[in-house]
This record gives sequence, structure tokens and C-alpha cells, in this order.
Amino acid sequence: MRMRTIREPLAADRPVDVRGTLRRLAGYLAPYRLLIVLSIAASIGLSLLTLLPAMLTREIIDTVIPSNSAAQALSVGLLLALVYAVRAAMVVVNQYIITWIGQQLVYNLSKELFGHVQRLPMRFHESMETGQIMSRVTNDVGSLQQALLGGAVTAAVSVLNLVVYLVVLLFLNWQMTLLILTTVPATVASSIIVSSLLRPRYRDVQAKIGAVTASLQENVAGIRVSKAFAREERSIAQFALRTQDNYDASTRTARIQAGYGPTTQLIGGLGTCLILWYGGSQIMGQNLSLGELVAFMSYVTLFYSPINSLTSVNNTLQQALASADRVFQFLDETPEDLDPPDAVVLDRVAGRVDFQHVWFGYDPGQPVLNDIDLHVRPGEIIALVGTTGAGKTSLVNLIPRFYLVTDGRVEIDGHDVRDVRLDSLRTQIAVVLQETYLFASSVRQNIAFSRPEASLDEVVAAARAANAHEFIVAMPDGYDSDVGQGGSKLSRGERQRLAIARAILADRPILILDEATSDVDRETEALIQHALERVMHGRTTFVIAHRLATIRKADRVLVMEHGRIIEQGSHEELLRLEGAYARLHRMQFAGEPPG
Ligand SMILES: Nc1ncnc2c1ncn2[C@@H]1O[C@H](COP(=O)(O)OP(=O)(O)OP(=O)(O)O)[C@@H](O)[C@H]1O
Ligand SMILES: [Mg+2]
Repeated sequence: MRMRTIREPLAADRPVDVRGTLRRLAGYLAPYRLLIVLSIAASIGLSLLTLLPAMLTREIIDTVIPSNSAAQALSVGLLLALVYAVRAAMVVVNQYIITWIGQQLVYNLSKELFGHVQRLPMRFHESMETGQIMSRVTNDVGSLQQALLGGAVTAAVSVLNLVVYLVVLLFLNWQMTLLILTTVPATVASSIIVSSLLRPRYRDVQAKIGAVTASLQENVAGIRVSKAFAREERSIAQFALRTQDNYDASTRTARIQAGYGPTTQLIGGLGTCLILWYGGSQIMGQNLSLGELVAFMSYVTLFYSPINSLTSVNNTLQQALASADRVFQFLDETPEDLDPPDAVVLDRVAGRVDFQHVWFGYDPGQPVLNDIDLHVRPGEIIALVGTTGAGKTSLVNLIPRFYLVTDGRVEIDGHDVRDVRLDSLRTQIAVVLQETYLFASSVRQNIAFSRPEASLDEVVAAARAANAHEFIVAMPDGYDSDVGQGGSKLSRGERQRLAIARAILADRPILILDEATSDVDRETEALIQHALERVMHGRTTFVIAHRLATIRKADRVLVMEHGRIIEQGSHEELLRLEGAYARLHRMQFAGEPPG
């Protein structure tokens, strides 16, 4: 099996398919195209309105002032006020539309991304830091929408404005317009240079933010270990290091951004100087009125503003591209439930499980399971024992298709698990993991996680069967008590029994149990043991056993070593063999009471 490593933050020099990314982004905006067109139209209306004040100013200077008419001055003034009022109203509406679309985009994209990440295979989650995932779902999606919408609308409007203002300028005075145009190539050139500098740096910044989030997540999640070993200072130092990286990367982009605006403004200023010099001489030669020069100067400022915003929009678009690239990278990972179109939908199975000459490895060329051939009857209890790293967990992980076999087949009731709809496969199987994970909610919700629609009576029945009822009702809020983050408010034995209750409530024909090795007191152990017996009853069970009591209850014990089943049979049969099991038994279970 090949695996794409994606743990590495994107290399800053990895080429981005700019067009492809833009096309995909456009796809996300497509549902809002009407509103976007409306918003662009409103923005053009706005810029046309912006043309009016300069014209009115020319009126005042060239006509109203020479005519000495106060009434005329008042009406022109009122008109000007009206123009500004309409403009303000349009800005409000426009801003609202843009923000609304932006929030829609965030909502849809983060929903899609989270859903996708949930469906990505185990391998992905093993190779990706949780914080990196969190950063992409929150931070990249956020920066994407801000940059994209601000960018897309501003870019469209600026291009249109540029054309409008150019026409107006040419119409007013084509000689002076040509003079202005001589400064444009310098502006364009600086914009191209800056964007090529910024694009990789933005990607770098986003990657560094991901690393900060990852460090934050990991150190907060591992807080117990940090405190236990008094290593908080080390966590703080690690976080500071990542934050420093982020700071450095952000400062590098800030330097470029900082130099950029003033450069284009300087170029614009030089253009203005040219006009003042040329226009001034034209006025002295009686070829131009003062009002015309003032109006022209205002339009020049207007003309430079879309150029300036095109350059800053370039910044934002680069940022959007960097984030989009990171988001799409996740969306392009293949989900695990891409079932074949003719996939079998399993109804409740009898529970026969067959491993047909199964080979499996996490890395190519490094088999962890070698030629496993195992046939399990419905309802049979299989205990797996063996040294650590022998491949016990790997073997059971193939049944719910957490990983795909390298060679051979795993079958349930005769169906290859690869040919079965994944959801219908997994709902046949209940899993109790070695390390119980509880969600930060109530006891009841945690038990009912496997079947949220279960009634309280069913939940209580499951808890009773798991020997958990008594400690639950002794808690202050009973079944509504909060278990804390990851179940941290409960003891390990209590957590295990909740996990067993969850499996009992799920009521699935196949059960996978990774027995905990933790030392609980004899009484609790007996409680857990009885609970396990109840949940195993009548189900095909694979139990990775660490207790003699469990092994003796099994119909068949499999002894694993280096990815192979080296012995199998009942506890007594294996003892009589005087082989690996007998040795293991002497070392591991000496002194344990018989089950
Ligand atoms: N996700 C993984 N990626 C790569 N290698 C893995 C992964 N999980 C396990 N391995 C390797 O596969 C081998 C078998 O591991 P497995 O977890 O199946 O052992 P185990 O028999 O369950 O051991 P234990 O009794 O300690 O739980 C080990 O060498 C282990 O390092
Ligand atoms: Mg294991």
C-alpha cells in the first residue's frame, strides 16, 4: 500500500496550479453569482457616482463662482450632498451582501471539509497532526473567504473602474492622459514582482499557523503528562518556538506588503507632478481652464485608486490562493468509503469471519501479517494472545476495514469486506478499544453514542449488564453526569465499563475487544469480567486477551508471533503442547486465579 505523506507542511516552493485553484474557487461562488453580479453592479454605480463630485467642482470653479450666483451655489451644494448620501446607502447594502456571501462560503466549506476529514482513512489521521487539521478547517477556510470575496469583487470592480476613468480622462484631455499612462508600466511591473514574492510566503505563513495550532492542541491534550513530569516549561518553549516561526514568516510578508503600497503611491505621485507641470503651463498658455485642471487632477486620483486596489487585491488573492490550496489538498485525499458502485449492503450478518491467506503491512515491503488463514464460526469466541507487536491489533483492524489487506481477503458471511458498503459493514461490529475514549458529554450520551435513538431504559439496561449502573447512579447527576474531556472525571475501570455498556447497547453480531491490561482491583476486574462475558455471549468475538479468565472462556486461542498464527486450540490443548503458549502462560499468568 502506498501512502502519501502529508505531515510535512507544504513546501513553500511547491508550484500551485493557480488557474485550477481559481476555477475551483469560482465553483464555490457559483451559487451566489446573481448576488455577486448585483454587488459588482452596485460598485460600478458607486464609482460612477464618484465621478460626479469632480464635475460639480469644475462647475463651481468655472461657472458658478464667475457668475456670482448664491442660489446656484446652493443647488450645486445640495446636489453634492445628495450624491454622498446615495453613495453611503449603496456602500451599506453592498457591504452586507459581500459579508453574507462570505459567511455562506465559510459555512459550506467548513462543513464539507469536516465531513471529508471524518471520512478519511485511519492512515490519514495517523499521519496528520490534529492541530493541523483544525487549523485548515478554521483558519484557512476563514482567511480564504475574507481574501477571496474581498479580492474577487474588488478586482472585478477595479478593472471596470479603470476603463471608465480612462475614458473620462481621455475625454477631458487626451494629451495629459497619455502623460499619466507613461507611469502605468512601472506600477504593473512592481505589482507582478510583489505577487511573485508574496505567494510562497503566504503559503509559508499558513503552514506556520497550522504548526502553532498543532503545538497548542498537542500540549493542551497532553497536559497531564506535562504536569506529571513537570515539563510545562518545555511545552511552553516548544510553543514559543513555533509561534516565533509564525512571527518570522508573517514579518517577512509584512515587509513586502509595507513596501508595496508606498511604491505604487510614489509612482502615482510622480504622475501627478507631471500633470501639474504640464497642466500649469497649459493654463498659462490659455489652453486649459483652472476648473478643468482641478477636475482632471481629481480624476487622476480616482484613476490611481483602482490601480492601487488592484495591487492590494493581488495581496489578498495570493492569500486566498494559499489557503485554498491547503483546503483543496485535504479535499483531494481519497475518502475511505468510496465503495464500488455494486457494493453489497449487509443486513444483520450471522457473524462468520474468514481470513483467506491475508497479508498486510503498514509500509510496503514490511509485512506485519503473514499469510493469515483463519476461519471463525458465527458466535465463536476467539482469544488472541502473543508478545507485544505480534500483530494482534493489526489483525482485528482489518475486519471493520480500518485498513485494506495487501493480499488475500477478509470475508464476513462470505462477502469480501472490500465489496461491502462501508457503513453497513461497520454497523455489524462493536469495538471496545484498549484505551477507552469518551466524549465530553453526559454518561447517557456516551453510552448511547452507538445508538443515539436508544431510550433511557435501554441505556440503563446496557449499563446494568456492563456492571456500570451502580456507580452511575451514585454520581451527583446520575446518567446526566458530565464525564469530562475524554472521560477524565471517571476512573479507568469506570471508563471501561461505560465502553462495554456502549458495545452492549450497540448490539452488533461481531464484537472486537482489545482488553485493557490496566491493573484494576480484583473486585472491579471481576465486574468487568462478568460484563465482558455478557457482551460476548452469542456474538462472534475477537478478544485480544490479557487475562487468563478471558482466555479460558474462549472457544479457541490463537497465539501470534511476528505476524503469524503459530499455535491454536483451547487453553488446555495449548498447555499440553508445551510450546509458545505454555511459555507465555508461565510468564504472564503465573499467580492469576483461574477464571
Ligand atoms: N499505524 C501503524 N503504522 C505503522 N506501523 C504500525 C502501526 N500500527 C502498528 N504498527 C506496527 O505493526 C506491528 C504490529 O503491531 P500491532 O499493533 O498489531 O501489535 P499488537 O500485537 O497489537 O501489540 P500489543 O500487544 O502491544 O498491542 C508493530 O511492529 C507495530 O510497530
Ligand atoms: Mg495491540
